[in-house]
Amino acid sequence: MSTILNNPFRTAPGSQPPYLAGRDTEMETARFAVGMTRAGAPPNPVILTGLRGMGKTAVLRRAADEAGANKAIVLYAEATRNESLAAIFRESLEAARDRFDSLPGKLKQSIEKVARYLPKAEYELPAGGGAISLQGSGNVPEQKPFVTLLRELNTESHKHGRYLMLVIDELQESSLEDLNQLVRFIHATAGTSEPVLLLGAGLPSVRAHLEKAKTYTERWQKLNLDFLDAEQTREAILKPIQEAGHAIGEIALHDLVIESAGYPFFVQEYASAAWQRHKGRTIEESDVAAIIPMVRQRLDESVYTNRFRSLTPRECKYVLTLADMGKGPHTVQEIAENLGGTSQQVSSIRNQLVKKDVLFVPDVGMVEFRMPLTDRYITQHRRDIERRSRAKESLVIKESVVSVKETKPSGGEWDGGCDHF
Ligand SMILES: Nc1ncnc2c1ncn2[C@@H]1O[C@H](COP(=O)(O)OP(=O)(O)OP(=O)(O)O)[C@@H](O)[C@H]1O
Ligand SMILES: [Mg+2]
Repeated sequence: MSTILNNPFRTAPGSQPPYLAGRDTEMETARFAVGMTRAGAPPNPVILTGLRGMGKTAVLRRAADEAGANKAIVLYAEATRNESLAAIFRESLEAARDRFDSLPGKLKQSIEKVARYLPKAEYELPAGGGAISLQGSGNVPEQKPFVTLLRELNTESHKHGRYLMLVIDELQESSLEDLNQLVRFIHATAGTSEPVLLLGAGLPSVRAHLEKAKTYTERWQKLNLDFLDAEQTREAILKPIQEAGHAIGEIALHDLVIESAGYPFFVQEYASAAWQRHKGRTIEESDVAAIIPMVRQRLDESVYTNRFRSLTPRECKYVLTLADMGKGPHTVQEIAENLGGTSQQVSSIRNQLVKKDVLFVPDVGMVEFRMPLTDRYITQHRRDIERRSRAKESLVIKESVVSVKETKPSGGEWDGGCDHF
C-alpha cells in the first residue's frame, strides 16, 4: 500500500533525497578534502554552485554528516542577507547542542564558549531606528572576534584528535566583510598543521562574490551542479522504489524520467506524486499518466507562471530570444545583438526581468534564467508568450502594474519548494 508515511521521496527544500544520484564527483571531492584536513594537510576549500533546486544543500549536508562521523567538528550556517555569519553560527550551535553531547568535556566547553561569546543576531528597527540585539540584559559575556573564537576552537579540537569544518550554505548572501574575515582565517590555517576546511554552496553568482572577497579564492575548487542525466534520473527514481520493496513499470519509469528532465527538485516531486497514486506494489504507466498533468500544472504555476504573468511585450521578446539561444548563461551583448539593439538599449528590459525574478546575473555581463527548465516552459507556452510579445506595450504595462501590485513581495530569492512561492 502506498501511504504518505511510506513514501520514500523527499520534496522539501534541503531535504536529503532517498538516493543521491549523480553527485559522486562532488561527494568524492568533499571526502578527499575532509581526508586531507584530518591528516593535517591543507585542503582546497570546496564550493558547490548551481541554480535553485539542483541539490546543493543535499550534497552539503550529506558531506557534513559524513565528516561529522569522521571526527570533524562541523559548524553549519545558512547565510542570510540580514545577519552576520557569526550570529548565524551562534544560532546553529545553540540549536545543535546535543550533537556535541558525546564529545570530551573540555572540547564541549570550548564549543559552548564559542556559542556564548559570539554575537546574537541584531534586528533593524523600522524607520532608521537602529539595530537591536535580543541579548536581554545582564550576564552578557563580553564578545570576542569571530575568528579568535574559531582559532581557539580549532586548537582545542586538534588537542582531542579532531579538526574543524565550516559548512556554509547560501554563501552568496553573506556580506563581503564577513567573507573577507573568513577567507583570511581559512588561508592562515592552511599554513599550519591544523588546517580548517570550508565547504560552501550557493547560486552561481557566488563565484564572483568570492573573488571580490579575496583573490586567492580563485584557486578554490568550485563544482557546478547541473541536471542529472537520464541514467542518473532513472536511478534517483528506481532505487528508492525498489528499496521500499515496490516496483515500477518500464514505461512508467521512462515517462517520469522524461517529464522530470533530470532536475532534482522535479524528480522528487513527480516520483512522490506517482508513489502516492499507485495501489498495490507496482507503479504503472496509468499512475504516471494520471499525475503528470496535475503536477506539471502545479509546478508551472508556482515556479514559472507567477513570474511570467507580469511581463510586458518587450520583456516577452527578451525571454523568447534568450530561450532560443539555448541552455546556460549568455552574454548581455549577444542577447542584445539577437534582439537587434545595443546592450544599453536593452539593459532596462533586462533589469526589469531581474527584478521580476525571471533572470539572474551569474557574473558581470551575463544573464540566465533564474529557474531551471524555464526554456522548456517557454517552448510549451510559446504561442501565448509570442502573442503577448506582439501586444501594444502601453496596454500590457497597465496590466503589469496591476499584477505587480497583486504579487506578494518576494524578497528577491526563491527559497525552495512550491509552498514558498
Ligand atoms: N542528487 C539528487 N538526486 C535526487 N534528488 C535530489 C538530489 N539532490 C537533491 N535532490 C532533491 O532535490 C530537491 C532540491 O534539493 P536541494 O534543496 O538540496 O537543492 P538546492 O540546490 O539546495 O536548492 P536551493 O538553491 O533552493 O537551496 C530536494 O527535494 C532534494 O531531496
Ligand atoms: Mg539549498
